[in-house]
Amino acid sequence: MVGLTKEEVSSYKTAIARTGPSAPLRHIESIIDKNSLILDYGCGKGSDVAYLKSKGFNVDGYDPYYSDIDLSGKNSYYDVVICNYVLNVLDASMEEQVLCNILSKLKDGGRAYVSVRRDSFKEGVTPRGYQRYVYLSDYPSFEKKGAFEIYFISK
Ligand SMILES: C[S@@+](CC[C@H](N)C(=O)[O-])C[C@H]1O[C@@H](n2cnc3c(N)ncnc32)[C@H](O)[C@@H]1O
Repeated sequence: MVGLTKEEVSSYKTAIARTGPSAPLRHIESIIDKNSLILDYGCGKGSDVAYLKSKGFNVDGYDPYYSDIDLSGKNSYYDVVICNYVLNVLDASMEEQVLCNILSKLKDGGRAYVSVRRDSFKEGVTPRGYQRYVYLSDYPSFEKKGAFEIYFISK
């Protein structure tokens, strides 16, 4: 989160490297306009950022542990924010703040796709970090597959 030091990000070990796009990104890639300015919020090791760049998209990756990008001057800046598998690794008390941050980075008319894990896993503290199931009652579900659900947030 903006303002957190790296030492305060206990969940960074939950990030994995992929050779291709995440499953949620594969689902929404075709509906993102090529001219969109995109933010990957909580991008981890940056596999989705690298994938989108390789496809010609204009994308910034923000992660409080892995990326030093400064978002403070980028309010109302992005057309699209993607946020994959981040809320699952945060305590519920941080959920609202993360969603507010995402909204603040979106232009008017912008769209955010926030995906959460729906595969089966053990909730609580694991060697890689904390994990929990997340259900966002204030936002519509955009897509629900076996292993994930994507919520849609518009501004
Ligand atoms: C499970 S990983 C997902 C990474 C990436 N989105 C992906 O799908 O590969 C969760 C990421 O959330 C990041 N994170 C932790 N706290 C965060 C916060 N408050 N705001 C944004 N990202 C956060 C962690 O550093 C970690 O890289």
